Amino acid sequence: MPSYDLIVIGTGPGGYVCAIRAAQLGMKVAVVEKEKTFGGTCLNIGCIPSKAMLHTSELFDQAGHAFGKMGIKVGGPVLDLAAMLRFKDEGVDGNVKGVAFLFRKNKIEAHSGIGRIVAPGKVEVKATRGPSGILEAKAIVIATGSDVARLKGIVIDEKRIVSSTGALSLEKVPRHLLVVGAGVIGLELGSVWRRLGAQVTVVEFLDRILPGIDAEVARQFQRMLEKQGITFKLASKVATIDSSGPVLKAIVEPAAGGAAVGVDADVALIAIGRVPYTEGLGVEEIGLKLDNRGRIPVDGRFATSVPGIYAIGDVIAGPMLAHKAEDEGVAAAEIIAGKSGHVNYDVIPNVIYTSPEVASVGKTEEELRGANIAYNVGKFPFTANGRAKANQQTDGFVKILADAKTDQVLGVHIVGSDAGNMIAEAAIAMEFGAAAEDIARTCHAHPTLPEAVKEAALAVDKRAIHM
Ligand code: FAD
Ligand code: NAI
Repeated sequence: MPSYDLIVIGTGPGGYVCAIRAAQLGMKVAVVEKEKTFGGTCLNIGCIPSKAMLHTSELFDQAGHAFGKMGIKVGGPVLDLAAMLRFKDEGVDGNVKGVAFLFRKNKIEAHSGIGRIVAPGKVEVKATRGPSGILEAKAIVIATGSDVARLKGIVIDEKRIVSSTGALSLEKVPRHLLVVGAGVIGLELGSVWRRLGAQVTVVEFLDRILPGIDAEVARQFQRMLEKQGITFKLASKVATIDSSGPVLKAIVEPAAGGAAVGVDADVALIAIGRVPYTEGLGVEEIGLKLDNRGRIPVDGRFATSVPGIYAIGDVIAGPMLAHKAEDEGVAAAEIIAGKSGHVNYDVIPNVIYTSPEVASVGKTEEELRGANIAYNVGKFPFTANGRAKANQQTDGFVKILADAKTDQVLGVHIVGSDAGNMIAEAAIAMEFGAAAEDIARTCHAHPTLPEAVKEAALAVDKRAIHM
């Protein structure tokens, strides 16, 4: 008899949530984690520390540029970067300890070391502390997440040429930060260091920022970032970075070929995406073939091609987001317990925690046009929202895309202060199959920013009140 019902390899948002849900369902669960702390990329080097830095750097920026206008005289704010980094680390510490507490509470046994699947139902743990050994279980869930994608010929030293991990702990504000990739990490962490005083240049391979986000949103958002002082070089790529001297010397080329230009920088952030992580896991030895992007293929029930082995989170297909990994963790645990777990991939919100924030759920206009779906657009700008005007945070708008025949909401896109919180309303509406009319007829408290969501829903039927 195996000693566990379930072994989960990896304790990121996918793995730890899966382990907790399985324990709630009465399973005897073990987790295996190779790092010193639980919580994976998200809690240790991703979502949590980046949001702490976005929060503190935004307040620093407001203290310098917005407080005076509101009648709050604080003098020029002085940056204590070491203390700001400590504040971030304390936030991480609180979160990872929270996961350890939840493991104890749910009687989940944690094993420290690299987990390698040696056969279905058998995981060898190469211990970082204590003896190595073999654990046995009826089912295994792989939740080993992802790692930084690297640029050929450019070595990340996490000091001067950094990934997001190094960019979250720079000891000094760089004079010039060169960001490679205008995706989520590039724009979030570029914003952090811009607010703290760095000159920021973002080099992006495509002719637009944020691929995958609604094109109108991306265009307007780029203008807002440019006003904040971020410079973009689109349709360009960084060919080389020479780090032999005191200043980094990058060569930036047009993506389509042509004359290159030199760019000097103190720090370069490589943020060109993330790749699934399966190193040392032994999956290929047990006959599990990865797809062409290194992901573990699974069916609709998160089952791999090897019986009893499941996979969730960044290591499988789909958006690399913590909440997507968490929902898959819950669904996989329920499926393994014989229940009907499910993830609705049509309703996964996406938030970029810049200022203003960008949040979306469902289809973009480009996707609807590509699928030949007729739709109506309802748009409402924050310049016409009472609360946004009172706070003088009027950048951005809400856009609702609704099916032309049925009025069902197919996509919601928000640029604006607090967009990340506002998108939850849209996600719930879509999960319940709401029509724009349903949102329009729902009473929204006044004065609040979500009234702009209601007005955009009214605008689908050309009857917004405040416009
Ligand atoms: P991970 O969190 O990567 O966890 C995998 C775990 O498995 C790790 O702890 C790893 O050590 C462990 N592991 C791997 N192999 C083994 C092995 N063989 N044995 C034992 N342990 C192993 N997403 C959001 O939704 N919102 C955000 O705001 C956000 N911000 C981000 C900011 C940054 C800078 C980064 C880098 C990412 C951010 N993400 C965000 C993405 C988010 O972090 C990931 O989508 C999420 O962590 C994926 O969860 P996961 O459980 O699949 O994997
Ligand atoms: P990304 O996929 O969001 O963006 C990468 C960008 O780099 C793209 O715009 C791409 O076109 C560009 N690029 C690729 N190769 C390039 C090259 N050689 N030169 C110039 N540009 C190049 O990836 P990113 O920002 O690294 O983030 C990784 C993952 O982490 C994302 O998938 C995201 O889901 C997740 N994440 C989520 C956050 C959130 O939810 N707020 C925050 C941070 C990360």
